[in-house]
Amino acid sequence: MNNNPKDPDQFYSSRSFSKLMVFLLLLISIPYLFYSLRFITHSNHCDQNPNIPTIHTTSLSEKQPQIPTPKPFEQTNISHIVFGIGASSNLWKQRKEYVKLWWKPNQMRGVVWLEQNVTKPDPGDENLLPELRISGNTTNFKYSYPKGSRSAIRISRIVSETVRLRLKDVRWFVMGDDDTFFVTENLVRVLQKYDHNQFYYIGSSSETHLQNIYHSYNMAYGGGGFAISYGLAVALEKMQDRCIQRYAGLYGSDDRIHACMAELGVPLTVEKGFHQCDVYGNLFGLLTAHPVTPLISLHHLDVVEPIFPNVTQAQALKRLTQPMDLDSAGLMQQSICYDEARKWTVSVSWGYAVQIFRGIFSAREMEMPARTFQNWYRRADSTSFTFNTRPITRNSCQIPFVYYFSYAVYNEDTHQTATRYVRVESNPECKWRMEDPTQIEVVEVYKKPNPNLWDKSPRRNCCRVKPTKKKGTMVIDVGECREGEVVEL
Ligand SMILES: *[C@@H]1O[C@H](CO)[C@@H](O)[C@H](O)[C@H]1NC(C)=O
Ligand SMILES: *[C@@H]1O[C@H](CO)[C@@H](O)[C@H](O)[C@H]1NC(C)=O
Ligand SMILES: *[C@@H]1O[C@H](CO)[C@@H](O)[C@H](O)[C@H]1NC(C)=O
Ligand SMILES: *[C@@H]1O[C@H](CO)[C@@H](O)[C@H](O)[C@H]1NC(C)=O
Repeated sequence: MNNNPKDPDQFYSSRSFSKLMVFLLLLISIPYLFYSLRFITHSNHCDQNPNIPTIHTTSLSEKQPQIPTPKPFEQTNISHIVFGIGASSNLWKQRKEYVKLWWKPNQMRGVVWLEQNVTKPDPGDENLLPELRISGNTTNFKYSYPKGSRSAIRISRIVSETVRLRLKDVRWFVMGDDDTFFVTENLVRVLQKYDHNQFYYIGSSSETHLQNIYHSYNMAYGGGGFAISYGLAVALEKMQDRCIQRYAGLYGSDDRIHACMAELGVPLTVEKGFHQCDVYGNLFGLLTAHPVTPLISLHHLDVVEPIFPNVTQAQALKRLTQPMDLDSAGLMQQSICYDEARKWTVSVSWGYAVQIFRGIFSAREMEMPARTFQNWYRRADSTSFTFNTRPITRNSCQIPFVYYFSYAVYNEDTHQTATRYVRVESNPECKWRMEDPTQIEVVEVYKKPNPNLWDKSPRRNCCRVKPTKKKGTMVIDVGECREGEVVEL
């Protein structure tokens, strides 16, 4: 390379270069000036996102005119998400019923990835489900985990294969299994908090300690679903195939994603609303004491008992979509209150179940899940789980009266939802000399839908037992806690 400044060619080209620069600067700065003037007059429209600091455009445009003006921020919505569902063709016929429960064909984008063609797709399904695609051939990838399945490689690569579809305006790639039930409005609520251009790996770990010890506490469990920001997904796609060759000895698809995240240096961002459900038995204890965070997913739907008694799991989840459609932010959220006169403790899990306990239990006890389930190794002691649990009582008087959600309506005049919960199981006899909830057959809960619940700092809703003349009925009001309202008696 010739660096002599006296070289005529060099001289000539640098002069024309500076002319060009002056011209370019003018070209850039004139429209910019107009744009910043416009921006000054409209600047209050531009700070809708609480996470992005307000930019003081006046001083910025005076001092640093060469910085491109940020586009007005548009909040993340469902259209910015692409789902990648890992499925297998032999189970698809049953599992697609779970996907149908939450999939909204005209609003959502996503692909169900299968290992081979399903022989006879049911007619009409294509309008109710994501499109089906066949995953790339993974014969050339090594898999050496002794008892696992090679499909882990295929399912792990769904992220990259979905990135390669080059869909427009994608901010998040969300992975899930064919037996994952998503509450997509809550998924959006949670993802809105994060900047998709940065590197985010968002999900949750297992409920079972041993699982996290064998796999990792830093891994997003695949069945619970996890989200990868656009920026990170693009970076992952560039290295994933090389990366997974290094981890032939790992068990699952999510182990492989986690291993690559570790190479990229991106930690797991835990959002407790994703539920892997690595448990056996009944989710009741978990769901009635859901953490104070939006419910995003449920998994292992064929492993655990149906969440409502006496129906199939698909029917049970179908029932759950009723309150979900009315007030997704409040779905499953617990509130705790007392029936002062009768000395009962009431726990509402909105849209799912109400429990009445004889006697007064503290909020601290009520927010602890009852062990209605076993861990993934079929043990149910308190050390099995990654959160505090309480034992199921043996005292027949302390067994709660359980009312399951049966239906919901929205009242246009009062702007409230009315949800009804009924008792389907009878309680054992109790000799305590105090008022007996046996007479209560039905619980009615009134609540204003609150789509902005999670825009504030997390706080449990409050409930209040209302006086009523209706026979066999308890009436409860649920909503944000009022000034000074606490769970006490
Ligand atoms: C989602 O946001 C985009 C802007 O990024 C907007 O064009 C679109 O209409 C929004 N969609 C929905 C369903 O709100
Ligand atoms: C799968 O089946 C569809 C029609 O049922 C066909 O169009 C497509 O080519 C098949 N794909 C493969 C990979 O066999
Ligand atoms: C996958 O690739 C291997 C070797 O590259 C080939 O033998 C096999 O037939 C391929 N499988 C399919 C389903 O295309
Ligand atoms: C269970 O379902 C059957 C049939 O739908 C019904 O007859 C029966 O009463 C139900 N039992 C309970 C406890 O709800």
